[in-house]
Amino acid sequence: MGKLPNDFLWGGALAAHQFEGGWDQGGKGPSVVDVMTAGEHGVAREITETIQADTFYPNHEAIDFYSKYKEDIALFAEMGLNCLRTSIAWSRIFPKGDEAEPCEEGLQFYDNVFDELLKNGIEPVITLSHFEMPLHLAREYGGFRSRKVVDHFVKFAEVCFNRYQDKVKYWMTFNEINNKMDVNNPIFLWTNSGVVIGEGENAKEVMYQAGHHELIASALAVSKGKAINPEFQIGAMVSHVPIYPYSSNPADVMLAEEEMRQRYFFPDVHVRGFYPNYVLKEFEREGYNIQMAPGDDEILRDGKVDYLGFSYYMSTTVKSDVENDNLGSIVNGGLPNGVENPYIQSSDWGWAIDPTGLRYTLNRLYDRYQIPLFIVENGFGAIDTVEEDGTIHDAQRIDYLKSHIEALKKAVTYDGVELMGYTPWGIIDIVSFTTGEMKKRYGMIHVDRDNEGNGSMKRSKKDSFEWYKKVIGTNGEEL
Ligand code: BG6
Repeated sequence: MGKLPNDFLWGGALAAHQFEGGWDQGGKGPSVVDVMTAGEHGVAREITETIQADTFYPNHEAIDFYSKYKEDIALFAEMGLNCLRTSIAWSRIFPKGDEAEPCEEGLQFYDNVFDELLKNGIEPVITLSHFEMPLHLAREYGGFRSRKVVDHFVKFAEVCFNRYQDKVKYWMTFNEINNKMDVNNPIFLWTNSGVVIGEGENAKEVMYQAGHHELIASALAVSKGKAINPEFQIGAMVSHVPIYPYSSNPADVMLAEEEMRQRYFFPDVHVRGFYPNYVLKEFEREGYNIQMAPGDDEILRDGKVDYLGFSYYMSTTVKSDVENDNLGSIVNGGLPNGVENPYIQSSDWGWAIDPTGLRYTLNRLYDRYQIPLFIVENGFGAIDTVEEDGTIHDAQRIDYLKSHIEALKKAVTYDGVELMGYTPWGIIDIVSFTTGEMKKRYGMIHVDRDNEGNGSMKRSKKDSFEWYKKVIGTNGEEL
């Protein structure tokens, strides 16, 4: 087998709200995640109206990277990361979202973080919006339902691009912009777009309207960013969960093909710069009235992304002749015809473990778009055991990551896919997005903190730490 390119980006991925903490420090305003309570597997997180004094909000303190960033970055450097994917908390820069001027303390915090990363030879890879919209924009404007929020986002993007133009080269506009296609789980529309569906509303129609505004906001940000620094590489970021047909029954195959449009719609527009016909037909068929402004076609055409970042955790499977009313469950990926795949095992949280699905995904996406791809999330959420002597033997995590790296290597060296890098999710233990738990751990660095917020916050290395260090040190040759 050939080798990965020498400039391959090996990193880790994080999101501000899941690890920074300091939710009300440095002038930061509350974000949409700051009103989300803790849930667990099978128990949804609640979205509270305001911040209630007697309620535990796991993201408020998270793992306190806000005050420990130097210590954590030193560990990332020791592991050998050459990049770190994280996000800028929008409400640290614009606490309410619609201010005329940004918050200097917030901007300075990211200067400090980026300087520390660069000093340690770690390239920042930055998502502008990773589920962190200022709460005020969600409550007062209805989030991305409102076209006005496009302007607020673009202003935020411009401020970041100008400020960090010499420190950050790789950007992404919206994290997993397409996960809200699953309108049955309210946290996706809330965290992606600041949207709550009202009584009697058609959730899909509202989702497409908010989505249109986000696609416009992303395209405008790309154009503005390129004008500020033509060297910028600005990408999109989508959640990619391939949908397999359950059998060779043509009805299963066609169903999977149609369902895949849920995954493809957003990247189709981001990459190609126009709406695909299958969605325009859906608008027509369903009678959706999506407001688009004159000039939007040009905005989309001019703001195409340079690369496609995506998360890959699992695959799903659909069967045409099954009635499954278990909408929104993880096993069926929120799909009405979703069934378990008999060839695949699942994690304790019901996420199917399918490394071949990653090679399949890389091929499908590259064939479709022919632009560089970047795996910006992949990983194994599991319960870890801390031994008496403090060691953590996370062999299962190593196996998961190893098999996925093998798959990506095959896609690059055998299939010829252009892949920029690999940043496994939650390189250090952080708060889970879907459940708000700490015990669903992805990290190679353990953090002493539990689901209720108890613990010393002490960091310690798991077995996967040294393993990943070796992988990076050999550019993926030794797994
Ligand atoms: C992705 C998100 O959906 O999956 C991350 O971009 C999230 O924010 C990750 O944390 C894993 O999900 P979870 O629920 O296991 O934390």
